[in-house]
Amino acid sequence: MTPSPKSFRVKSFGCQMNVYDGERMAELLGAEGMVAAAEGADADLVVLNTCHIREKAADRAYSDVGRLRRADGSKPIIALAGCVAQAEGEEAKRRSKMIDLVVGPQAYHRLPEMVAEVVGGKRPVDTDMPAISKFDVLPVRQRSGPSAFLTVQEGCDKFCTYCVVPSTRGAEVSRPAGDIVTEARALVDGGAREITLLGQNVNAWANETQGLDGLIRTLAGIEGLERIRYTTSHPTDMTDALIAAHADVPKLMPYLHLPVQSGSDRILKAMNRSHSVASYFATIDKVRAARPDIAISGDFIVGFPGETEENFADTLRIVDAVRYAAAYSFKYSPRPGTPAATMSDQVPAAVMDERLQRLQARLAEHSTAFNRATVGKATTILIDRRGRLPGQMIGKTPWLQSVFVETNAKIGDMIEVITVSALPNSLGGVLATAKAA
Ligand code: SAH
Ligand code: SF4
Ligand code: F3S
Repeated sequence: MTPSPKSFRVKSFGCQMNVYDGERMAELLGAEGMVAAAEGADADLVVLNTCHIREKAADRAYSDVGRLRRADGSKPIIALAGCVAQAEGEEAKRRSKMIDLVVGPQAYHRLPEMVAEVVGGKRPVDTDMPAISKFDVLPVRQRSGPSAFLTVQEGCDKFCTYCVVPSTRGAEVSRPAGDIVTEARALVDGGAREITLLGQNVNAWANETQGLDGLIRTLAGIEGLERIRYTTSHPTDMTDALIAAHADVPKLMPYLHLPVQSGSDRILKAMNRSHSVASYFATIDKVRAARPDIAISGDFIVGFPGETEENFADTLRIVDAVRYAAAYSFKYSPRPGTPAATMSDQVPAAVMDERLQRLQARLAEHSTAFNRATVGKATTILIDRRGRLPGQMIGKTPWLQSVFVETNAKIGDMIEVITVSALPNSLGGVLATAKAA
């Protein structure tokens, strides 16, 4: 017989929405009286909150399951959650005998009762996408770090031909505005000064009367909330109203993650991206007109089936034209059940490797240039973690750059710094007062 677990650990992989889900699962287990296991200590229950977006991520989840066997041969209760759980369902139990329960991203509010079923000798699987919202049954939020995530929209109706998200997360659903505002207030009361609104297609958020811009304007009225961000946006849902919010809502930070994936119209069409290179540029122009200092970041896929050297050169061209402040780039990974996986002319791995290297080198040039351009300037950072060196703290600028600074300010403080050095992914800074003195 399996004893009831007293301690738990939640390990999240993948996107920020998974990080958010992981926090909510931890709160749910905490409300059941379980305690989070200390770093390095054994937990009675381990939740692996997995990602399915690329092949390696899923493999890594299964090898993580294997590693949970303890030296004495025993193991914790293992819950497979997240997008691999959704995609694999019952199959996950066959792939690993060690998995005790499988719970999809829309069913995790049932986690405590499923754990009770495991204690009762069962191996439950729940990958339903029920009409009732899991959010309605999750506990009220009580504590938060200075920078919090808040999921406002889930699922995706875009069906890019390479992507598993529409099948692992289901159709696009927007949470009610009232619930979001209540959760945002709770996060601010619990210590948050910055909230990042999350959704697989966050800018598709809408209700009967307003779009994401309206929601942002409402949230901006919350006292104590200093910074608002949102991610990830789809180019086709980037409305003029949302762009206007960047011009006139001071709490909305000057940062936009707007994935383009490829700079070739032929490839974008094969990807079913529903935007063209020209329409993407038109959007970027409008955004920059509204907020000239905005930092643009993006996602790229190299080696999509049929991508020629010329198509790839078009991607490098778009990188140079937009001058991304930051970017994520990936080799195309065929995902089971997606249309692209069975397309002819898959690109050889060696070609993908070489293109990814060239793309990343180019992206690093632009992110370094973006960071260098801020050297010598004063800016406010929100401190969110400690640095490695004694007395060193790390905080974020409005443009989401990490600044390392020596200070006795605490996590959650907002302080004025002057940046003095730039790397591709971070900045060095000194206190503005120290410089003046
Ligand atoms: N909804 C967001 C993010 C989706 S997943 C969007 O549409 O932009 C995050 C990123 O993973 C994508 O932007 C894409 O660049 C990458 N990605 C998704 N599926 C992939 C695949 N099969 N192979 C390689 N990269 C992929
Ligand atoms: Fe995937 Fe495309 Fe939807 Fe983004 S928009 S989640 S890439 S299907
Ligand atoms: Fe991964 Fe699922 Fe997010 S596949 S990227 S965890 S939506």
